[in-house]
Amino acid sequence: MALYSEKVMDHFTNPRNVGKIEDADGIGEVGNAKCGDIMKMYLKIENDVITDVKFNTFGCGSAIASSSMATELIKGKPLSEALTLTNKAVAEALDGLPAHKLHCSVLAEEAIRAAIKDYYDKNGIAYDKSQFPEHDAEEEHSFTED
Ligand code: FES
Repeated sequence: MALYSEKVMDHFTNPRNVGKIEDADGIGEVGNAKCGDIMKMYLKIENDVITDVKFNTFGCGSAIASSSMATELIKGKPLSEALTLTNKAVAEALDGLPAHKLHCSVLAEEAIRAAIKDYYDKNGIAYDKSQFPEHDAEEEHSFTED
């Protein structure tokens, strides 16, 4: 059996929604301190619905495929639904990831949550803090803004 599914290879070689949204309503950046991979997610939000999403991932193929798939899963969806997206659902949508690569899909889940939290924070919207557990992101892993 191939290590990676066709869907993983497809989303890795032809990732959807890559890029940056200049006037994003929410931006989430997360990283994995162990492997050093970083993911940044940009959301456009209207009436609590994600109308557009883009990402930049500096990381492994599984992280790129996971971010690509995750953006497809949340585009056009209400925030409440995007918040329920788990890394397991992302991995399943990719027809699976090798066990040692599951942590890559966690970045996608965390990046979306971080972007939604950023939107809530910027707009003074109250939320349940337990929905946003602390992640691994570290300052030194930040992208430099151009
Ligand atoms: Fe770190 Fe994939 S190896 S996100």
